[in-house]
Amino acid sequence: MAKILVVDDERNIRATLGDILGDEGHEVCFAENGDRALGAIPEEDPDVVLLDIQLPRRDGLSVLEEIKKRGYDCEVIMISGHGTIESAVRAIKIGAYHFLQKPLAMIEVRQLVRHAAEAKQQRDELRTLRGKDVRRYEIVGKSRAVAALREQILKVAPTTGRVLITGESGTGKELVAWAIHRHSERHDRPFVKVNCAAIPRNLIESELFGHEKGAFTGATATKKGKFEVADRGTLLLDEIGDMDLNTQTKVLRAIQEGELERVGGTKTIKVDVRILAATHRDLREMIADGSFREDLYYRLCVLPVHVPPLAQRPDDIPLLATHFLSGYCRDNGVAPRQFTDEALQLLTGLRYRGNIRELRNIVERAAILSTGAEISGSFLRSLMEPDRGPPGHDLFVTTRPLAEAKESLERVYVSTQLEIHGWDIPRTASALGLQRTNLHRKIKSLGIERP
Ligand SMILES: Nc1ncnc2c1ncn2[C@@H]1O[C@H](COP(=O)(O)OP(=O)(O)OP(=O)(O)O)[C@@H](O)[C@H]1O
Ligand SMILES: [Mg+2]
Repeated sequence: MAKILVVDDERNIRATLGDILGDEGHEVCFAENGDRALGAIPEEDPDVVLLDIQLPRRDGLSVLEEIKKRGYDCEVIMISGHGTIESAVRAIKIGAYHFLQKPLAMIEVRQLVRHAAEAKQQRDELRTLRGKDVRRYEIVGKSRAVAALREQILKVAPTTGRVLITGESGTGKELVAWAIHRHSERHDRPFVKVNCAAIPRNLIESELFGHEKGAFTGATATKKGKFEVADRGTLLLDEIGDMDLNTQTKVLRAIQEGELERVGGTKTIKVDVRILAATHRDLREMIADGSFREDLYYRLCVLPVHVPPLAQRPDDIPLLATHFLSGYCRDNGVAPRQFTDEALQLLTGLRYRGNIRELRNIVERAAILSTGAEISGSFLRSLMEPDRGPPGHDLFVTTRPLAEAKESLERVYVSTQLEIHGWDIPRTASALGLQRTNLHRKIKSLGIERP
């Protein structure tokens, strides 16, 4: 349970919130004005602060600003009365977690505080583990969809059940896998990842199961496979839909029996590995056309977790964009920058086929190319539509031989897709239904250059 600081000048609101949250098992403390609150935070170290917007002397917004400025690590939920909704929206921009509206609805209070506390706790755990890498592994978002996802992660994580994580490309499947490991009993054991799409077919078995010295040309020493490396920990089989049938059979055995042999080896090795699998493909469709083993599917999909596409959680876009922008500035040691409201609105209105990865790319591109402290909507627009039309728009309106147009179209399309997929060649190739070597050839022949 969490520690909550309630800041409100009305005694009966403090009492009501104290009761509701106390019944939930939280530890609650109080402050009746902003200055008291700022004094109490370093002493009490609350996880969540419930902060009234209308306070005597110093209003809630300025308290919030001060909390952020001083870097106090707590989630702040604003309480807005009649007519202060606009301020509440501003508060979100400053970095409040969310807001509650008076009159307070008990269910909403409970739920929101629980979500905020979970977000804070998740951050704490990551911090102790990864030092300054924390933010990279944080699941950002406060939409209903993300709250539900977080709850699901917390539910499946402590079990040893195998989890199949599905969702479109770039939705955060890998992040979810990592969060599951972090919240499991195996969290202090290794988390190992294999990208089944990125490893050539002839090497995947040795990658997964290891090999003995001399097993094949190039096997100059004995090597442990990822299953062995992940022993007593967690193994993520990423892009499992790209694994060939032959390897699927061997993986099935390793999972079922908990044992394997290295390539070229005869000794049976026992392993205790929790398996997580992820894919953007429809495995049921693949089962139907014979390219995925049904028995393996049922082994992997004991606990299904679906990561929703960004289109189903547009509320998260401003938050994600701000998160990526500040992350970029911090990592690159440049002065902090901000999106204007208009820019955030523009970003929220876009369609992201590449989901969060695409949003991240757009934000980083804007961060690289912008100069001032603010990134405006018109600047973003100029980045996205250099010729005032959608990308490649001139292709459709200038007349020329079809063959030439086709080539231009291909160039625009392939380079856009490469960008969407962060120039990850295996992933782009898989998304376009190409062999990697073919994609390489196309990049060369179309004269596409990495920006
Ligand atoms: N909720 C989130 N909060 C913050 N960052 C996120 C979130 N979801 C995804 N990201 C970021 O977006 C990028 C893509 O996420 P990730 O690699 O987990 O997606 P994926 O679903 O595995 O994609 P693919 O199917 O292409 O492998 C990463 O940089 C990740 O850190
Ligand atoms: Mg992935």
